[in-house]
Amino acid sequence: MDTIIAYITEDLEENNKIYTNAAKILKEGGLVAFPTETVYGLGADALTEQAALKIYTAKGRPSDNPLIVHIADENALYELAESVDDNMLNLSKEFWPGPLTMVVKKKPCVPDSITGGLDTVAIRMPKHPVAKKLIAESGIYIAAPSANLSGKPSPTRGKHVIDDLVGRVDMIIVDDTVDIGLESTIIDISGEVPMILRPGYVTKKELENVLGEVQIDPAVMGSLAEGIIPKAPGMKYRHYAPKAGLIIVEAGTMDQSSVIGYINDETKRVQNEGKRVGVMAAKDNMNLYCADVVLPFGSSDNESLAAKDLYVALRQFDEEGVDIIYAESVTTKDVGLAVMNRLIKAAGHTIIKVDDVN
Ligand code: TXA
Ligand code: MG
Repeated sequence: MDTIIAYITEDLEENNKIYTNAAKILKEGGLVAFPTETVYGLGADALTEQAALKIYTAKGRPSDNPLIVHIADENALYELAESVDDNMLNLSKEFWPGPLTMVVKKKPCVPDSITGGLDTVAIRMPKHPVAKKLIAESGIYIAAPSANLSGKPSPTRGKHVIDDLVGRVDMIIVDDTVDIGLESTIIDISGEVPMILRPGYVTKKELENVLGEVQIDPAVMGSLAEGIIPKAPGMKYRHYAPKAGLIIVEAGTMDQSSVIGYINDETKRVQNEGKRVGVMAAKDNMNLYCADVVLPFGSSDNESLAAKDLYVALRQFDEEGVDIIYAESVTTKDVGLAVMNRLIKAAGHTIIKVDDVN
């Protein structure tokens, strides 16, 4: 399949042509990748089963993994949700448009094949102007998972989408103003107590201010190996993973210099075996490492930057062809919980505490 690659620029007239063309493709049942404020999404008409199903083929995505439906205004809740309650309206008022996805009981018009057979649907109103414009211009609800091949890190740059999906989708809209860099927070409000299924930029504390008690799915930091099955089907797959093995190194009770010492000792040992080593480190620590490739991962005074850096670094290590990656860990406070949730998955739960090895 030929893929149209369209770049959003300052030229408003040209941009309008892109939206018109993209909307036409979507209405005819095609696939369009587009930027959102979290990560790039791969969109199709959510309520036309045959269109939405193409997403699974293009991504190589397992069919039991449901899609998020993207909307442009609150009225869509009344068309997609079985009933609209105060929690939905309050969350919408506080966080939409923005990086929050609500899981609610669905109406029959939402095809079972896009919800993996569940009786709930995930809904998000994105904030990114390109996403908003595309939903409004096409007049449909857009089902969109992250625009990566299944198993790869979510794309935060047009280049990532092109690497993964060219030849597999009808159009890719490029606008590299994706500023959060991690997927949305998913909150399930279909049950008794609201539960965070996937942490993101909207934190537990912020959700509690609106909803009262909020639980976190134990699978967020636990592992399948421990028998903990996540409630968001997509969270059980090996995800976000770079090609090289990834090891997280934590200080434990030691100080940060022990992490740097440990990683540098391991780096030399592994380099002696003829392998290339990558390190992800807080910006202010980067020059202290002797690895072949050292990439930024937040900074000591602004750990939320780590969210923006994570997927960019994982993809860059793939390109650099490193054999092993060591990552500093970040705090699990606030948005740090989302960062560590993705990092731990990318590392397949391989975490070394320096005080255990000394
Ligand atoms: O920021 C985002 O959420 C991005 C952008 C494009 O909006 N989208 C995204 O979609 O990350 P995706 O498909 O990569 O992740 C959706 C997650 C999956 O883990 C899926 O299992 C879960 O949401 N999910 C979708 N519908 C669900 C439902 N009804 N119940 C529980 N989990 C659901
Ligand atoms: Mg995804």
